[in-house]
Amino acid sequence: MSERMAEDARSWVTKAVAFYKASGKRIALAEYSNPEGQFVQDEKYIYVLSLKGTMLAHGVNEKFVGEDFSDVKDYDGRSFIKTIIKKAKTEGSGWVDYKWYHPVTGQIVPKTVYFEKVDDLIICSGDYTGFSKGVALLHDPMLNKGTAFTEAERDALKLRGLLPPHVQTQEEQAGRVMDNFRKKPNDLERYIQLIGLQDRNETLFYHVVTNNIEEMIPIIYTPTVGKACQEFGHLFRRPRGLYLSINDKGRIAEILKNWPYKDVRVIVVTDGERILGLGDLGAFGMGIPIGKLSLYTAGAGIHPACTLPVLLDVGTENETLLNDPLYTGIFQKRVRGKDYDKFFAEFIRAVHKVFPKALIQLEDFANINAFRLLHEYKNRTCIFDDDIQGTAAMTLAGVYSALRITKGQLRDQTFLFLGAGEAGIGIGDLIVSALIDEGMSTEEAHKRCWFMDSKGLVVKSRKGLAEHKLPYAHDYPSCPDLLTAIQALKPTALIGASGMGKGFAQATVETMAKLNERPIIFALSNPTSKAECTAEEAYTWSSGRAVFASGSPFPPFTYRGQTFMPGQGNNVYIFPGVGLGVIACEARHVTDQMFLTTAKELAGQVLPSDLEQGRIYPELKRLQEVSVVIATAVAEVAYKYGLAHKKRPTDLLAYIKSQMYKPIYQSYI
Ligand code: NAI
Repeated sequence: MSERMAEDARSWVTKAVAFYKASGKRIALAEYSNPEGQFVQDEKYIYVLSLKGTMLAHGVNEKFVGEDFSDVKDYDGRSFIKTIIKKAKTEGSGWVDYKWYHPVTGQIVPKTVYFEKVDDLIICSGDYTGFSKGVALLHDPMLNKGTAFTEAERDALKLRGLLPPHVQTQEEQAGRVMDNFRKKPNDLERYIQLIGLQDRNETLFYHVVTNNIEEMIPIIYTPTVGKACQEFGHLFRRPRGLYLSINDKGRIAEILKNWPYKDVRVIVVTDGERILGLGDLGAFGMGIPIGKLSLYTAGAGIHPACTLPVLLDVGTENETLLNDPLYTGIFQKRVRGKDYDKFFAEFIRAVHKVFPKALIQLEDFANINAFRLLHEYKNRTCIFDDDIQGTAAMTLAGVYSALRITKGQLRDQTFLFLGAGEAGIGIGDLIVSALIDEGMSTEEAHKRCWFMDSKGLVVKSRKGLAEHKLPYAHDYPSCPDLLTAIQALKPTALIGASGMGKGFAQATVETMAKLNERPIIFALSNPTSKAECTAEEAYTWSSGRAVFASGSPFPPFTYRGQTFMPGQGNNVYIFPGVGLGVIACEARHVTDQMFLTTAKELAGQVLPSDLEQGRIYPELKRLQEVSVVIATAVAEVAYKYGLAHKKRPTDLLAYIKSQMYKPIYQSYI
């Protein structure tokens, strides 16, 4: 901290002490708490603690007066009030450093407080100043501003000489990042560049990602993240996220405490068994929670320090990885059964203990575990599975939008799915919920959805069907292949969620186009190589009549003079908003009703101008705007069903907006 700032805080307290001595306790405490009074100026104010930690006066928040602050911890979990009390009793006056939310920006910034004990009062004044200084500050990605540290900050924070002399603006830095980004030879290099930036300077990383979201999402998430995961150990630069291996069982809570940030609100956890459509990548799967949480921040303004990527390493079945000396996980086959379940249960218990306000998002678990874990925990904790529930909401929203083009009604559709896994069944279940909501019987609603999996059409006569497929096992003859099934069932919508590239052959799309004026065709499998068909194929084979969406992005395509903008059925329209809504109201659970609501809200965000170009999702550049709507809807459901811990603010939407992190540099002096 600079001399000037030290003197400011100290002289503020000295002045307050003099006032106390001249006017007495009652008048002094009232004056310190008076926002119009002589002890509140800009960000400087006085607060007074009793020797037990009760707030006796506060210059900016009168609600604090009378509250017990003795157990208040700073952002890093340190009991700094206890430290102030202890030092005040032993030394009479002094300084304590801590990290705190800046009242104006909502960012976490270093703060220092000067205090003096007078009689039974501790009179304090804080400053938003840096205790991280010099090289340590440059190496703290949450606080680093690189060449944008101002002349005054360079002097105050011992940075003079450690940075090139020319001070840059954040915009100039962002311009440099984008120049380099666009010069890179391929997407993987772009991914490496961005992860490097995230490791050095999170504010700049999120500034760049948020302002160029359409260009960035395919790099920090699908499809490039898939390639990055496949080569994760080979690209390894710096660890990020938390690894919990089966060998750590019994000490998960202890390990969670090693995480440097204490106010974790969203955890994305994977065990790496079904990474995108790429299969078992074991510990290399860590790229997925990291990428996904970056999107929580870029898409919904959730503070990066409130996010935690977790990889549960229980081994891998992937022989290539087990034979790769650069593999980063434990070298063993996957643990399954009771031991796996016990390990997972310990993880949930540990999260409750260490991060009690955290929402847990299950990500890329294989379906043998995903459905079971979701059903086991969804009514016991704040948890959801994005592959099952997020995908479902995103797809149902796409269906609602598609119906605006085809002029159809949900109840009149017949859906045929290629793939009866997490994504497919999750979508089917939500369509069923939507139909029931419209008044259809459960049995009728199930009959609207048909599934093909790797063994053919899911029908009643098939033996050994997994439980999640049973409601869709209709009394119908078996069907050997997709084309025959289409001819027999005459679906209006074909949804690919098989992870099998090229699953929709030319004849498939042509037949859909013969049966329907505007066939709905979604090729949701990721990454791009696994898409059931490309946008170009869907439009060409249907003579430009398909209403198309895909999981991975495809470029615009012009067919017979008409340019189509294929919509990307990306869960990013849903999960960041769900996270923001859950955090805002501190929801106890994430419910199916929330996903049904988000599907409708997302569809409502699609503009007529989007539909004219064949785009059934909003433009990605509107992502934050969409996320706020989704978050508000989620919180409203929580309030309606009594699931919120937090009192409802009068203006929920305004409150949610006010909670969002903005990746803009703040002054530290
Ligand atoms: P999963 O492993 O749970 O299910 C895959 C299903 O496809 C299984 O039912 C399997 O039997 C079936 N299948 C596999 N090969 C097949 C074949 N040759 N013919 C017919 N069926 C076949 O996987 P999950 O989670 O359902 O994901 C499937 C795909 O959907 C993946 O590529 C994933 O990346 C993608 N996905 C896309 C999302 C998006 O945002 N667009 C979100 C979630 C998943």
